[in-house]
Amino acid sequence: MAQPRAHFTTSFGFLMAATGSAVGLGNIWGFPTNAASNGGGAFLLVYLLLTFLLAYPALMAELLIGRERHANILTALEGLSEKPVTRFLGRLLGFGGLLTASLILSFYAIVAGWMLGKFLEPLAQLLALPTLARWLEADSLWRNGLLCLMFSLLTLAIVARGVSAGIERWSARLMPLLTLILVALIVYVLTLPGAIDGLRAYLLPDFSRIGDPALLLSAMGQAFFSLSLGVGTMLVYGSYLHRQAPALGTAEGEDPLPRLGASVALLDCCIAFVAGLLILPAIYVAQAQGVAVFGESGELLAGPQLVFQVLPNLFASLGQAKVWVSLAFFALMTIAALTSSISMLEAPVSALNERTPLSRDQSAGLAAAIIFAVSLLLIFNMASLFDLVINLTTRYSQPLLGLGLCLFAGWILFSNRRLAELRARNAAFGHSLFWRIWPWYVRLVCPLLILAMLVQSLR
Ligand code: TRP
Repeated sequence: MAQPRAHFTTSFGFLMAATGSAVGLGNIWGFPTNAASNGGGAFLLVYLLLTFLLAYPALMAELLIGRERHANILTALEGLSEKPVTRFLGRLLGFGGLLTASLILSFYAIVAGWMLGKFLEPLAQLLALPTLARWLEADSLWRNGLLCLMFSLLTLAIVARGVSAGIERWSARLMPLLTLILVALIVYVLTLPGAIDGLRAYLLPDFSRIGDPALLLSAMGQAFFSLSLGVGTMLVYGSYLHRQAPALGTAEGEDPLPRLGASVALLDCCIAFVAGLLILPAIYVAQAQGVAVFGESGELLAGPQLVFQVLPNLFASLGQAKVWVSLAFFALMTIAALTSSISMLEAPVSALNERTPLSRDQSAGLAAAIIFAVSLLLIFNMASLFDLVINLTTRYSQPLLGLGLCLFAGWILFSNRRLAELRARNAAFGHSLFWRIWPWYVRLVCPLLILAMLVQSLR
């Protein structure tokens, strides 16, 4: 407790960590297939709008609460107000967030384990270990469990090292590598026959779908998941910022955080968009090679079939390049998943570390062990639990928690009285466009928009 609180050492480090959290399987796998089956360019447009009109303000709510309170989600929300009712609600929201973050990590680590397995498979072939390669290929409880364990241990190893030596350092190394692999794969895939059809399917907008509630809901879910909102991962990253973090390109006296948050949202969208330039062309290249890419009712194969069937079949047809292309693709997936999973684990770890006598190592070990136990439960009850947990956490829990966080940030942390106080103390505060619009925006507009979409989805 006597030690100074951990923090990010540079704005760049924060940017890489937060972007690393945002960019994950949701971008590289979820976004492109969602776009392709929901009106192509039209989905992209709706997604961009929702990201900036809804998800970005909610992201700022989390980052600002975090930076203001310098604590994990539970302590931060509980301490925002003296009133017993709001303290109680804050605690409820905090627990909800921690639980949701842990549950999301429990299924995310399973999927990431599969990615790791697909990455190890070509390696096993290169090293002339055919038995291992075959074991990795065949679906089994042991394989799923062990791969998930390996991935969870990787996540734990980084988080246990701490904020700057673990999370910041590894995000700053892995994110540029991820971008490099992504661009190299796009350049390669675009040279293959059929790729251009994929670009067409991805980018040509089908505007007849634009008002479709299903499209709106999927775009909102995608935007919330992609920016890691509602569960305290962004809040805790915000809490590792100094109150006056210097940032490049900001005028003196201006708060750099709105701009940093916007960069995270923008980079997240850019990488999702660019990932589509890889995935959709790859699907159509696979089709040109004779791989089945459409399901029985003519819909594009998305979900697990796409990543674990269509793409591997495509890679298998590439001859000599096969091993390298699958190695690169699944390295990309594993890296994307890892920089996200560390942010999910950090949410409960920071709470345990700050609220119990456990050290950081012990907190990380305990949280990772509990989450892994839940992953095992999911692996053993795949048919009944897996989709249920995914839907519950990402479709309902995340938007609802996001709504709560907006209300807390708008009505309590940045209430009119508080804003007036801040202005009185610092003449430069609050005159930018952001500070004129954002407070009432998260108080009213965001919660209403989120509610409207949730109600829509229940009808
Ligand atoms: N945003 C990540 C992705 O797109 C996943 C992620 C990381 C996440 N932290 C989160 C999702 C917290 C929900 C909540 O894959």
